[in-house]
Amino acid sequence: MISAPEVIARKRDGEELAPDEVRDVLQGYQEGRVAEEQMSALLMAVFFRGLSDLELRTWTDTMIASGERLALSGLSRPTVDKHSTGGVGDKISLILAPLVAACGAAVPQLSGRGLGHTGGTLDKLESIPGWRAHLSNSEIRDQLESVGAVICAAGSGLAPIDRRLYALRDVTSTVESIPLISSSIMSKKIAEGTEALVLDVKVGRGAFMKDHARALTLARTMVRLGDDHGVRTRAQLTDMDEPLGRAIGNAIEVEESLAVLDGGGPSDVRELTLILARHMLELVELDVDPAQYLDDGSARRVYDDMIRAQGGDPDAELARGSHHQTVTSAHAGYISTVDALSVGVAAWRLGAGRARKEDPVSAGAGVEVLVRRGQAVEVGQPLFEVYADDAEHLALGVETLRHAVNLTDDVVVERPLILDVVGATE
Ligand code: URA
Repeated sequence: MISAPEVIARKRDGEELAPDEVRDVLQGYQEGRVAEEQMSALLMAVFFRGLSDLELRTWTDTMIASGERLALSGLSRPTVDKHSTGGVGDKISLILAPLVAACGAAVPQLSGRGLGHTGGTLDKLESIPGWRAHLSNSEIRDQLESVGAVICAAGSGLAPIDRRLYALRDVTSTVESIPLISSSIMSKKIAEGTEALVLDVKVGRGAFMKDHARALTLARTMVRLGDDHGVRTRAQLTDMDEPLGRAIGNAIEVEESLAVLDGGGPSDVRELTLILARHMLELVELDVDPAQYLDDGSARRVYDDMIRAQGGDPDAELARGSHHQTVTSAHAGYISTVDALSVGVAAWRLGAGRARKEDPVSAGAGVEVLVRRGQAVEVGQPLFEVYADDAEHLALGVETLRHAVNLTDDVVVERPLILDVVGATE
């Protein structure tokens, strides 16, 4: 058996750990032989020293082996999933999963809840009356076969050691480490049993990764880990300086997703959904045009089936906060930024997000963004429609939004939505 202090010291001094050492220390932590303070020290050493390719592969293997792996082989369709690193207004999964299923694949999207200023897919779907996030493994499999798409809570059996490591990283300031983020995300996705995976790595002020170079390293690291584990993986870097679409919140994002599924909605949401769908379909070698399946109503029909299969009513009226205010522009000019971080924080303060894992979220709180980067605005022109369940939350959100739009006297150039692709055209 390894000595935890020796392993910590070797990592601290920049030496490469042997596969046995990585495995033993993680298994020891899972079994209670390695103490929280020892794992905290090791995480900090990894934060500063990084992990070699072999160390990272072994670390990820051990995380996967800490729990169960979903058995999805034997389905009549190929499986492919998408993971986003989280952004403001990112409701793409709600449209993408049924769309790719309508095109002939099975999409097992095991998701999480939102924390802080980025929203969670499950929180959005839970604003649909009756919809149920928790499914058993056999329900997941049956729904993949019958409907083709499942969005549900990732069960506690997938890479269970990640929950403890993530909680420890959170209180030891070791979250922002590329090998630790990569192993955390990829262990859960690999354990989910998908054959192929597209990663949407968000970059910018509203994202977890603010910096292009670091986001690219994260994307390359995750693509390598996926490929090494037999999951065909591709990543794309997308801009998150500005919110995606116009709606930010829970029910309000479901409404916007329905608009896209019905052939309308904001052009950036439609464009990103179709680009991601094309990557997913290429990875599982389905030669079809997803735009056709969006426009002919097939994706909407799969969405309705997916929601009904999980107890929800796809036609139910959705909540909208009873308190409402319009935020207007105090100045005239061209919009240089609608700041994704401020809009995300505003939605969170309105009640749409949570500060702690166990907090409830409001279905009806949220923001509708009425303007885009580059647009000319006049004094008094409406910028945001703001909704909350009470006056106190409304005031907090409105205050944050007063600083969310930056103006300039010059005409502003458009920025591309897609910044890079890893694993395909590199
Ligand atoms: N999401 C995860 O699941 N893990 C991380 O470490 C960061 C984001």
